[in-house]
Amino acid sequence: MPSTSLIALLGLFTLSSSQVITDPGVSGPPLELIHLYYDEWPTGITVSRSGRMFSNYPPGLDVNNTNTGSNKKYTVAELTSNSTEKPYPNLEWNSPPGGAINYTTTPPTGANYQTHLIGVQSVVLDPLDRLWILDTGRALTPEGVLVPSSPGGPKLVCVNITTDTVTQTILFPPTVAYPVSYLNDVRFDLRRNLSGTSGKGVAYITDSSGEGRNGIIIVDLGTGESWRHLDSHPSVHPEPGFVPFVWGTPVYYIPSPGAPVIYMPLGSDGIAISADGEDLYWGSVAGRRLYSIPTERLRDKSQNSELLAQGSVKDHGERGVSDGFETDTSGHIYTGNIENGGINSYDPKTGMVSIFVRDPRINWVDTMSVSSDGYLYFTTNQLFLLPSAYPGTDRRQRPFALFRVKLPNHGSRVCLVD
Ligand SMILES: *[C@@H]1O[C@H](CO)[C@@H](O)[C@H](O)[C@H]1NC(C)=O
Ligand SMILES: *[C@@H]1O[C@H](CO)[C@@H](O)[C@H](O)[C@H]1NC(C)=O
Ligand SMILES: *[C@@H]1O[C@H](CO)[C@@H](O)[C@H](O)[C@H]1NC(C)=O
Ligand SMILES: *[C@@H]1O[C@H](CO)[C@@H](O)[C@H](O)[C@H]1NC(C)=O
Ligand SMILES: *[C@@H]1O[C@H](CO)[C@@H](O)[C@H](O)[C@H]1NC(C)=O
Repeated sequence: MPSTSLIALLGLFTLSSSQVITDPGVSGPPLELIHLYYDEWPTGITVSRSGRMFSNYPPGLDVNNTNTGSNKKYTVAELTSNSTEKPYPNLEWNSPPGGAINYTTTPPTGANYQTHLIGVQSVVLDPLDRLWILDTGRALTPEGVLVPSSPGGPKLVCVNITTDTVTQTILFPPTVAYPVSYLNDVRFDLRRNLSGTSGKGVAYITDSSGEGRNGIIIVDLGTGESWRHLDSHPSVHPEPGFVPFVWGTPVYYIPSPGAPVIYMPLGSDGIAISADGEDLYWGSVAGRRLYSIPTERLRDKSQNSELLAQGSVKDHGERGVSDGFETDTSGHIYTGNIENGGINSYDPKTGMVSIFVRDPRINWVDTMSVSSDGYLYFTTNQLFLLPSAYPGTDRRQRPFALFRVKLPNHGSRVCLVD
């Protein structure tokens, strides 16, 4: 009889938890803590070639980010030390007179200012290191109700970060940014020879609207013209009955205080351009699948372009649950893996997803940004503990965090420009 069996038979084992295999919860490169957010609640992060960092703070998701006119709330800031932030490009742009909400309309609406920021959900530096600010034009009232936008509010604002001045503003008409659209995230391709464009580059934007009007928006940066594709296609919609689990917590949604609990309603959100610019990847927050489409099909706005676009959507299987996406020069598509405290990486060459990094400090990976010196920066903002998540109380604990990790194989920022 083998001796361990004999020991077991005689009852000589003492119980100790160290004998039981345990999930290490940590893998991949080590996290470096870069910034702690003690003031407003952040989503986006973008890192310039010289290492300057910019974040945004959406009033569409946290009532305490809403500018009421009498407070000094900002919706975009530059990170000025490892724990301080300064309104960007200046306080004026962040201070809509009378606040972000227009109470003279019934119901209240987002203010219509073209030269002030209302509710910014994303900030992204393009391949020329210009900062683009994506304004949803929407904000929460103090009662927690998300107001629809008014024309003038939803816009893409370009800032020269050398002079810290606004150089271009692209307004979205209400036929492109619907009043209940939520312009979520944006990616840029500045190559001159792109089919169907003026030659000054294009932007691709996700509409993650919790009210169901999801789709992909395309913008010609030269003419300022914008249009939509894949409206209400299953690939941009939340998956019915979707319940993600973060840090052991099932996440149900409460669209406004006192409203009945619903399943996660957030559609197409994370977005990434392939390293060669030929494919656009996206996914819903309320969904596990990774989709892509040839970017040429999105730029096409001819009579049959929507049919051709719908016919060109590729389903790459499950990616994990995530919010923002990012790409690097190795061609990987990074997506959060918020159910496993980590970040995943999809390799188009193998068609497979793998875990890039895991760490118990990682909760809700909101936005990722690859820097020119080869790091993946990402914010973790406890989004699943907002009052908009069941049971409806604010369970977040300050500070929110910005980390970075070194990319594998000398991966770096993708710059689509000639
Ligand atoms: C907003 O700020 C007030 C005052 O500091 C605080 O009492 C409240 O809990 C905050 N609410 C949220 C949702 O952060
Ligand atoms: C932030 O900066 C302060 C002062 O330079 C330093 O003491 C602290 O360790 C830094 N914290 C982090 C998280 O880097
Ligand atoms: C508020 O709404 C009224 C009525 O539509 C409009 O005339 C006014 O310009 C709006 N003001 C702002 C700041 O949005
Ligand atoms: C920003 O402004 C500076 C100074 O006018 C100019 O030299 C630079 O080319 C501008 N940057 C971009 C990306 O246009
Ligand atoms: C644009 O030019 C790049 C390189 O100059 C080339 O790789 C790409 O195929 C061209 N794209 C189109 C749409 O012509």
